[in-house]
Order: sequence, then C-alpha cells, then structure tokens
Amino acid sequence: MDHFSDRAGRLFAEEVDLAAIAAAVGTPVYVYSTATLVRHFTVFRDALAGLVSPAGEAPLVAYAVKANPNLSVVATLARLGAGADVVSAGELARALAAGVPPERIVFSGVGKTRAEMAAALTAGIYQVNVEGEAELHALSAVATALGVEAPVALRINPGVDAKTHAKISTGLADNKFGIPLDRIPAAYALATSLPGLRPVGIGAHIGSQLTDLAPLEATFATLGELVRDLRAAGMPVERVDLGGGLGIPYRSDQPAPPTPADYGALVRRATEGWNVRLLCEPGRMIVGNAGVLVSRVVTVKPGDARTFVVVDAAMNDLLRPSLYGAWHHIRALSPDSGTMVATVVGPVCETGDTFAEDRTIDRVSEGDLIAFMTAGAYGATMASTYNSRPLVPEVLVDGDRWALVRPREEIDAQLAREAVAPWLT
Ligand code: LLP
Repeated sequence: MDHFSDRAGRLFAEEVDLAAIAAAVGTPVYVYSTATLVRHFTVFRDALAGLVSPAGEAPLVAYAVKANPNLSVVATLARLGAGADVVSAGELARALAAGVPPERIVFSGVGKTRAEMAAALTAGIYQVNVEGEAELHALSAVATALGVEAPVALRINPGVDAKTHAKISTGLADNKFGIPLDRIPAAYALATSLPGLRPVGIGAHIGSQLTDLAPLEATFATLGELVRDLRAAGMPVERVDLGGGLGIPYRSDQPAPPTPADYGALVRRATEGWNVRLLCEPGRMIVGNAGVLVSRVVTVKPGDARTFVVVDAAMNDLLRPSLYGAWHHIRALSPDSGTMVATVVGPVCETGDTFAEDRTIDRVSEGDLIAFMTAGAYGATMASTYNSRPLVPEVLVDGDRWALVRPREEIDAQLAREAVAPWLT
C-alpha cells in the first residue's frame, strides 16, 4: 500500500502532481512519500505490538539506514520513534544528524574499523553487533582506551538459505557474515571475559527481499535455542536482534510476499518465552514502496530486433536492474491507454544499462515522463556519478507540500572535488 495514485490520468504523490515536481526540479528525480513512510513504519511497529521485554520495553525497530539514508527520510522515521541500524561512521553521523537518539542506534557490519567503533562508543549507542572473535578483541581495546563499556550482541551465521538473490543472501555458512553457530558459546564467553565489553545478546540477519518466512522461522528457532543454551551456561542474554529482510511486492503478476502482520505473527510465535528485548532492522519494508524515480524519455529508437526507449535515468541512478536483474514496474506519468513492447535503457555506455527488456509498457514517446515504481529502497543510495553524471536529486512530499531534500549535484561541484596534479598544471 502506497500513496502514489492516478488523479485524472496523472500520477500523484499524495496531493502533488509528479509532473509538477519534474518541471521544477528536472529529471531524473527521486520522489518520496511521507504518508507511505509513516504508514509502513506504523504497520511494522504495530505488528510487533505487545511484545515487551521483562522491563516493559517495546521492540526497538532500528530502521536500516542503508536502504535510504536521506536525512529527511531518516528524520521522518526518527520522529515516529524509529531507531537506526547503521553500518558505517557515515551512517552513524546521518542517523544522529537526523535526530535518532543514540540509545536507539545499533551498529552492524562485518568490517568496522577501530575509528568507527570509537565514534559509535563515543556517541553512546545502544548496541554493537559483533561479527567475529577478532572484532571482540578490537572493540574491547577501543572501549578500554575510551574508558567506556560497549554493549555487545553477537551476530550468528545460522547457515540458512534465505532463498533470495545470491548477492543479497547473508546467512549461508560460506557468506562472510556473522559467527558460525558452533563458535557462539565460546565467543560469548570471550565477550564476558574481555574488559570494556558487556554482552547483551545475540542476533541474525539472513538476507534481503525475503519472500518466504520459512528461513526466518528456522533462524528464529536457532536463536531461541541459543538463548536457552547461553543462559543454561550462566551467561546473561537480555536482547535478541531479529535483523531485517522482509520482502516487498515489486511485481503485480507475482504472489505477494508475506505481510508485516504475517511477520509479526511469526515473531510472536517464535519468541514466546524468550524474555528478552526484541530488536528488528527493517529497511526495504519501510521505504521501498515510498519512493519512485521519475525520468523523461529522451528518444524512442527502433532497432532491428526491438524498440529501445532511451530515458534520462541510467544504471548510475538506479542500479538494481543492472546489478541484480531486479524488476521495477515502469509506467507513464500520464498514460494514454496504449501500450508498446520496449526495451527501456539509460544513456550510459554499457549494454547492462537496461531497466527492462522487451516489456509491455505504457506507450510513450520523446519527452514523456515515466516513473520507476518501488524505488525508495536501495535506489538513490546506490547511485554513482558513472559517466560523470551528476548525483540524482531527491524530493520529499508531505500532503500537498514538497521539498527538494537533496539538490541535483552540479557538474562544477563534481569537478571542484578533484584536483589536477601539480605537475600537470
Ligand atoms: N540489517 C543488516 C545487517 C543488513 O545487512 C541489511 C541489509 C538490513 C538489516 C536491511 O535489510 P532489508 O530489511 O532492507 O532487507 N542493495 C540490495 C539490498 C542489500 C541489503 C543489504 N543488507 C538491493 O537493492 O536489493
């Protein structure tokens, strides 16, 4: 459910005509809907309602900032009570700048540097999710040097096939993530013994765009057994981080993925009797449907075998189709009721710069505006300046108002960040 809708044949974001934004800001441009963000966060949080810790704390919904780190997006969620799951010093700085209180920030990631650990501990974040024994030693050293105690959760690698795209699967034994299950008890004991660390719990994240709850169910069962085993061995376990990963519908012709309510029911069932504070790290689920990428048709080019619709967005603006073969629904902002079979491509000089192959889309011609739907997650944030294209701008809509929340990068600004080596001038 999102707040993009047709009004008299024109695509609106809430109360705002997307064509008006395109006219004012130019294209390509990402547009996000506040009402959709609010709805998704609220639905997700409500699906976990009542699952309180022994101390009465509700689950911490730590929004995975990587999905869409735009300051206004994070600030919108922060005002609703969201926490943040961050994976770099940059994301930590963003979360703080967007108003997420440190006590709602979790630091995940497989390769935190000591400088990043220090930044997180200095900020006083809620928890560091640790992914290896060596990282425990490093974090202990950093915490001790700072004279603070680091709240630590161990990320397990449950050895579960999340049944998603190989590039975004993270819970298999040969993935780089987490600590193998059989090493967790010893690692937990190590965390207990090292100075400057306070082990608070365990967690897992097995992958993204999960469309089947079974792998999550298996993972939660493993986490539950670990909670019991660790406690039986005398180790305190106060928190369990269930990770993110819930998939969203990208295609109307495929079965809908499980809903937040389905997920909530699973969590309720699986975590019964754990007596912990639950944490979740949803990203895509919160922002995916809340964003579209608006682009303009540069030209329609008949080829020998197929018709190419060349648009002004490219793989550098929305990488997912090129990188994962991901599907984004493409529609005209003002469809004329006709259709065409087209291969939709960007202007970048690679054949991989393809958004859709031989797809039936709304009939479009040069100058028409189109939208790539469901582009709020892993869209703008994965953009690059390849082909020296300026970073794509972002707009946030709220009811009948909208704001440019990241302006289009100026080419001059791009050039100004570089220098010609002194011997070349
Ligand atoms: N927690 C951790 C530790 C993660 O690595 C991720 C995503 C999340 C939470 C959030 O997962 P979500 O709820 O969004 O599925 N660029 C890819 C997705 C990469 C996901 C990486 N990790 C894409 O465009 O599909």
